[in-house]
Amino acid sequence: MYSAGDDISAVVVDVGTCTTKSGYAGLDTPTVFPTSVGITYTYGKDGMVGSYQKAIGDGEDLDPDVKKTYYTGHNAISYKRQHMEIQSPLSEGLIKDWDAMEHIWSHAFHEQLNINPAEHPILLSEPAYNTRQIRERVSEIMFEKFHTPAVFISNNAVLTSFASCKATSLVVDSGGGVTTIVPVHDGYAIKNAVVKSNLAGNKLTEEYYRILSEKQIKILPYNLIKKQEIKPGEYSVTPIDMPDLTESFKKYHTLETIRDAKESAFRVSTSFLGEDISTVATVPYELPDGNLLEVGSDRFHIPELIFNPIPLNDLEKPATPYQSLQKMIYESVEKSDSDIRKELIANLVVSGGNTLFQGFSDRLYYELGELSHAFGKVKVVTPNVTERKYSVWIGGSILGSLGSFQQMWMSKSEWEEFGRPLVEKKCP
Ligand SMILES: Nc1ncnc2c1ncn2[C@@H]1O[C@H](COP(=O)(O)OP(=O)(O)OP(=O)(O)O)[C@@H](O)[C@H]1O
Ligand SMILES: [Mg+2]
Repeated sequence: MYSAGDDISAVVVDVGTCTTKSGYAGLDTPTVFPTSVGITYTYGKDGMVGSYQKAIGDGEDLDPDVKKTYYTGHNAISYKRQHMEIQSPLSEGLIKDWDAMEHIWSHAFHEQLNINPAEHPILLSEPAYNTRQIRERVSEIMFEKFHTPAVFISNNAVLTSFASCKATSLVVDSGGGVTTIVPVHDGYAIKNAVVKSNLAGNKLTEEYYRILSEKQIKILPYNLIKKQEIKPGEYSVTPIDMPDLTESFKKYHTLETIRDAKESAFRVSTSFLGEDISTVATVPYELPDGNLLEVGSDRFHIPELIFNPIPLNDLEKPATPYQSLQKMIYESVEKSDSDIRKELIANLVVSGGNTLFQGFSDRLYYELGELSHAFGKVKVVTPNVTERKYSVWIGGSILGSLGSFQQMWMSKSEWEEFGRPLVEKKCP
């Protein structure tokens, strides 16, 4: 059993597809930075390899003489560094690149929080569909590389449920990379009733990018333009063309600009309430180069995909068909034990950045008519914007500071005694 001194706070880390939220347990809000990393590849002493393809080649392992250098945090990955590729350690919400992931954790501990992880118990969140292998490796890295004295891994949805002060709820989390429906009963996720889809915030941003490209509207991110004031209030803007910037760098920052436009101009259509969306005004969005992007019907049509999806193109794969959010919720309730269905839908908790569109909860409630008809009264709990954005982290912050939780930690000495099987035992 782990026992920390009274002055040692636990640290809570929620690594999401878009952003990593971290901070001391007991605080109200986390610090946030992008989950993507920058990577350059060098050969020998100072020879730049040039590109990821050259460094690694198709289907090959990395040449042992090629050195990878990682860059983390908003400023480091925004800097126009030659040949720097931008990558995410996660794929569909699961860790796929362990080196990159270690750099994200390290950035959270050393750069964002300025702590020595060897001195703090670390509470980590995980998706409901995480694999046993991944959670065991995560624990191993925490204990053996970061030398943390204690670790706990908790399910995202359970933490969100905690943040809403509920032991039983149906958690609907739509973030950047994944939308997940998870029934939580008495503080435990019901794993065989989890329903997930990759139709989340990033897909909507990519879809807007595709539509803008089709309309031949070029988006230049702020770090790829040179803006000079020629007269007071008048600027000349020239695109920066550096041949050694990678496509992944340009794409990442272009999508970040489009994401910002999406977040400020889009909303969910409430045409079901009689609103005629064809008469609703367009919204101007000022692009970094000073041009105005007039956001018209796209501002309704793209979020509409959440409730009325069409197959969307994945980058290299053929178009993927998606299920609507209301169908996913229905399926999850149907997969849950019939005794608890009523309680679940009376406590449907909405969370994640992709639910922040104006009108989201009203529309969701409207779309759940069939569900209430089949299973009983639906109550949608919509926490405020900050709580919805950071619900997983906030739940961790509450849990990590509870006195009664302190006996739950996996301690370093237990890890040394039991090894990997400890994880399933202590973090169900
Ligand atoms: N005000 C807003 N309106 C609409 N979408 C928003 C808003 N704020 C954030 N988002 C979107 O929410 C997504 C990020 O949400 P969140 O931080 O919950 O995801 P994450 O935890 O990083 O990823 P995931 O949980 O999917 O692994 C992004 O796609 C972002 O564009
Ligand atoms: Mg998340």
